[in-house]
Amino acid sequence: MAKEKKQEQNTNEIMEKIVSFSKRKGFIFPACDIYGGFANAYSYGPYGAELKNNIKKMWWQKFVQEREDMIGMDGPILLNPKLWEASGHTEGFNDAMVDCRKCKKRFRADHIVSELTGQDMEGDLEGMNKALASLECPECGASDWTEAKNMSQMFKTQMNGFDGDVYLRPETAGAIFVDFKNIIDSMRVKVPFGIAQIGKAFRNEIVARNFIFRIREFEQMEIEYFIDPDMEWEEKFEDWLKLQEDFAMSIGAKKEDIRRYEHPENKLSHYSKKTVDIEYNFPFGFGELFGLAHRGNFDLLSHSKASNQKLEYFDPVNNRKFIPHVLEPTVGLDRLILTAICSSYTEEEIDGDMRTVLKFPYKVAPIKIAIFPLLKNKPDLVKKAKEVFDNLKSDYMCEFDDNGNIGKRYRRQDEIGTPFCVTVDFDTLEQDDSVTVRDRDTMQQERVAISELSEYFCKKFN
Ligand code: GAP
Repeated sequence: MAKEKKQEQNTNEIMEKIVSFSKRKGFIFPACDIYGGFANAYSYGPYGAELKNNIKKMWWQKFVQEREDMIGMDGPILLNPKLWEASGHTEGFNDAMVDCRKCKKRFRADHIVSELTGQDMEGDLEGMNKALASLECPECGASDWTEAKNMSQMFKTQMNGFDGDVYLRPETAGAIFVDFKNIIDSMRVKVPFGIAQIGKAFRNEIVARNFIFRIREFEQMEIEYFIDPDMEWEEKFEDWLKLQEDFAMSIGAKKEDIRRYEHPENKLSHYSKKTVDIEYNFPFGFGELFGLAHRGNFDLLSHSKASNQKLEYFDPVNNRKFIPHVLEPTVGLDRLILTAICSSYTEEEIDGDMRTVLKFPYKVAPIKIAIFPLLKNKPDLVKKAKEVFDNLKSDYMCEFDDNGNIGKRYRRQDEIGTPFCVTVDFDTLEQDDSVTVRDRDTMQQERVAISELSEYFCKKFN
């Protein structure tokens, strides 16, 4: 019988295990490892890249393909800096940093205060400095802090032919607002409608930490959902929260590991009517996964004023023009990947043996089917297994493996979360042209005729 071990382990241990497992199994590597790494950045290895693509595809399918009120776009990373002036990022996209004078370690000031006192002082520099005076550095125990001060999160660069600083975008949303006019001029959209985008964003975080949870180069999947300013928005807001939670569960998060955090009124941006974070219970504690904000008409109005362009919508039914308000559901793709790995990572005891298995939902799994010849040194078995592989590979991400004994091959596929393994054995050749299909979760095996494999997997995966 399988026995869950996950809850028994301490949380740091689980995180350390996940980081080293991700590297060992080809999911996520420290970037520039041979040079000693770089700035806590990570590369996605072969299975990580598949996992990432699968989650992107699922998100695009749910929020663009299957909806009549949504369209997609893909804007550049380097955008006119006027955009970031109008949105307030150039001036105000800051975090507070503080250094320990003794051990020279750098911290995000609001994070260190909240970790040591439980108080949320984000944005309150004076409060942070006061609180820090009586706090000890968690690294060295000294209480000798520099003054907490704001640091811009914007990455600057230069561009040929352009005078002045250019920025790597700190969020994908900006590109959507500045393309609003082109979209309503070229597409027959009717408010309410949304524009979705997936892409890289860059933030000069004071400290990158918690594996891929907080990194400086990451991917966002953002939506700007434009609504009539006069509409009752509360129900739509609730719908979006629910859709985001459902999406988290579709990649494997358990309901009990998801919670909502509504920003208190004194923490809301001046233009926001309501902001709610959807948090996931990572091994290091609850952290923001999704955000949902009612941003009013702040963005379209700011860009309209700064560009001298009318960013309005004409409602032909009521014959009126207005600047739509916007609901902004947003999520970090890297945080979703961490969620998928953390929620599916399982260690089980099977008849006295331990097995590690990623119990990914099928759509998330990097490899869907692994195909094995029972023995590597029997050309007929290998030839037949290759034929099975060739027949399935255009419909599913498959892996061919003839290395080691069959038990080890099953374990290897369990570890990377492959839902099914197909084995070609002597009965395949000598008896009925059928193969063994082994299920990752139940570990049960059944015989399936090769001629029926396509239909068999079609049913399993749909
Ligand atoms: N356009 C709104 C916006 O950017 P945000 O809460 O700053 O809002 C959206 O970011 C999402 O991006 C977050 O909910 C989080 O999932 C992800 N995110 C933000 N900073 C991140 C970082 N440094 N590393 C990884 N993901 C990050």
